[in-house]
Amino acid sequence: MRATVDRAGLDPQGRLPKVQIRRVRKGDLAKVRDVMEQTFGDFLERQLGTRPRQAFGGAQYVHHRWLMEPWGCFVAEEDSSKIVGAVLAVTWGTVGVLGPVAVLTNYHNQTIGQQLIRAAQDFFDENKATLHGCVTYPTSPKHLYLYHKFGYRPKHLTAVMSRAIDRGPARVSTLAKAGVKTPVTARRFSTLEEAKKKAALVRIHRITNAVYRGMDLAKEIEIVDGLALGDTLLLERGRDVIGFAICHSPGVSEAPAGSLYVKFLAIDPPQKKPEHLEQFVTIIEGLGQELGVQRVILPVYARYWTAYNVLIQCGYQIDFTMIRMQRGKQEDYEDPSDLVLDDWR
Ligand SMILES: CC(C)(COP(=O)(O)OP(=O)(O)OC[C@H]1O[C@@H](n2cnc3c(N)ncnc32)[C@H](O)[C@@H]1OP(=O)(O)O)[C@@H](O)C(=O)NCCC(=O)NCCS
Repeated sequence: MRATVDRAGLDPQGRLPKVQIRRVRKGDLAKVRDVMEQTFGDFLERQLGTRPRQAFGGAQYVHHRWLMEPWGCFVAEEDSSKIVGAVLAVTWGTVGVLGPVAVLTNYHNQTIGQQLIRAAQDFFDENKATLHGCVTYPTSPKHLYLYHKFGYRPKHLTAVMSRAIDRGPARVSTLAKAGVKTPVTARRFSTLEEAKKKAALVRIHRITNAVYRGMDLAKEIEIVDGLALGDTLLLERGRDVIGFAICHSPGVSEAPAGSLYVKFLAIDPPQKKPEHLEQFVTIIEGLGQELGVQRVILPVYARYWTAYNVLIQCGYQIDFTMIRMQRGKQEDYEDPSDLVLDDWR
C-alpha cells in the first residue's frame, strides 16, 4: 500500500506548486539543515514510534559538505521562496556518493525527491563518477522503489557499529596476545608540514586506488583538516603509511555527541592483515580516550567480511543497519578481504 501523505504543498486550486531545483547557496545552509533534521525526525518518528530529540544525534552534515563539494548540493525551492527539500552529493574521484536526501513530509510523493536525485546524478556524470552509491532503509518499499528507478541495486548491509570506551582499561588485542608482531604506529595528519601533507595524500590515493580504481578521499581529509572537524590518522609501519582513518570528533562534524566517528578507513591492500586493523582500532580508541568521548563509532559494509569480523572480535556492536545501493561500472568491486570501513551516508 502506498503511504498516504497530506498534500499541503497543493495550492487552493489543487495545482502542484512550482518547485525548482537549484544549487545550494551560502544563505540556505541553516534552512537546509532544518529541512534535513525535520524530515528525518518525521521519518524516524514513524519508524520508531517516538521522535528522537535530534534526528542525527548531534551529527552535522550540511555546512562542511557544502564547503567541500558546493556543486554537489541542491535544494528544491517552492515559489522561489521556501526550501522544501535538499540533497547532498560528493565525488570521491570516480565514486559518487549520494545523500542525505530529504523532502519535507508534506511535500512527499510529488516527484521532488526524484528531481533532487536527478540533479545529483547529473553532477556525478559531469564529474565522470563511474560508480554511484548511497545507503538507504532496507525495510522501506518506497526507498527501494525510488532508487530502483535510477538504476540502483540493493547490495549488502552497512552496519554502523560502536563500542563504549569510557570505562575500564584499554582493550587488549587478542591477535597481539597470540604473539603476532607487526609494529605499527600512528601519526596525525594535522601535525604534518604542508609538503608532507601533500605526500601523505598521494600515498593515501594509492591506497584507495588499489581498493577501487580512481577512488580519491583527498577532499574528505582536507575538509577535516581545514575545519578541524577531527583528524586523519595515518597508520605507519616503519616509514611507510599502510593505512589511514578519517576521524570526526563531536562538535560540528558528522560525529554524534559524545562519540568519535570514523568516516572512512582503509589499510593498503598488500598489507591487509587483520591484526593491522585490530591495532588500528585500538589506536583510534586511544584517540577517543584522549578526546574524552564515550564511544567510538565504526561503520562497516558487510561485504568487507574480514573487516566486519575484526570489529566483532574487537567488541563492537551493531547500532543500526542500512542497505547499500549501487549502480555503474564495477558495482561489485569489493574484495571481501579488503580492510575498509566506509560510510556512504
Ligand atoms: C525519500 C524521499 C527523499 C523521497 O522524496 P519524495 O519527493 O517523496 O519522492 P518522489 O515523489 O520523487 O518519488 C517517490 C516514489 O515512490 C513511490 N512510492 C511512494 N510510496 C511508496 C510505497 N509505499 N511503495 C512503493 N513506492 C512508493 C511514489 O509513487 C513515487 O514514485 P512514482 O513517481 O513513480 O509514482 C522522502 O520520502 C524523504 O525525505 N524521506 C525521509 C528522509 C529519507 O528517508 N531520506 C532518504 C534516505 S536514503
